[in-house]
Amino acid sequence: MALSVLVVHGPNLQWLGTRRPEVYGLTGLDAINRRLRALAAARGVRLEVVQSDHEGDLVERIGRARSRHQGILINPAAYTHTSVAIRDAIEAAALPAVEVHLSNIYAREPFRRHSLIAPVCRGQVSGFGPSSYALGLEALLGMLDEGRSSGGAAKTLPSSARRRVRPARPRRR
Ligand code: DQA
Repeated sequence: MALSVLVVHGPNLQWLGTRRPEVYGLTGLDAINRRLRALAAARGVRLEVVQSDHEGDLVERIGRARSRHQGILINPAAYTHTSVAIRDAIEAAALPAVEVHLSNIYAREPFRRHSLIAPVCRGQVSGFGPSSYALGLEALLGMLDEGRSSGGAAKTLPSSARRRVRPARPRRR
């Protein structure tokens, strides 16, 4: 079965290209999505892309992801810094998730330097413009591939640990 990933864009990201281009660049959301779709297609992966300004919509879409997708790529935008509901939805979905940001949130205003979402994600990519999404998707697909080839062990253990717990071959006498 082909892998499927849910891509989630939070509030105001539909304005990329014209919204604060000195911070977020000139690339629009459609172009970002096209690049992600091309990357996914080259790997035989299905993408479902959603953008919403509404916290409840995002919570619902993430909640439904469990039965439809194997991973989540998310730019929660302003909700990064405020949303316990989105954090809890990702935790409840129990799928590997990667958080991405166009800007480097740690080099900006103090209120942007804390992510409520990061603790429930496998990792975060922040500060590389549209490439944050591409790098995040690559990382997520890499983890999903690893999880498949190890029968799901990648969900809980780093590869070094998995190697350690592999059963020893029985010795020949
Ligand atoms: C953002 C960073 C957030 O602080 C901000 O509210 C956004 C975009 C980013 O991609 O850099 O809307 O998530």
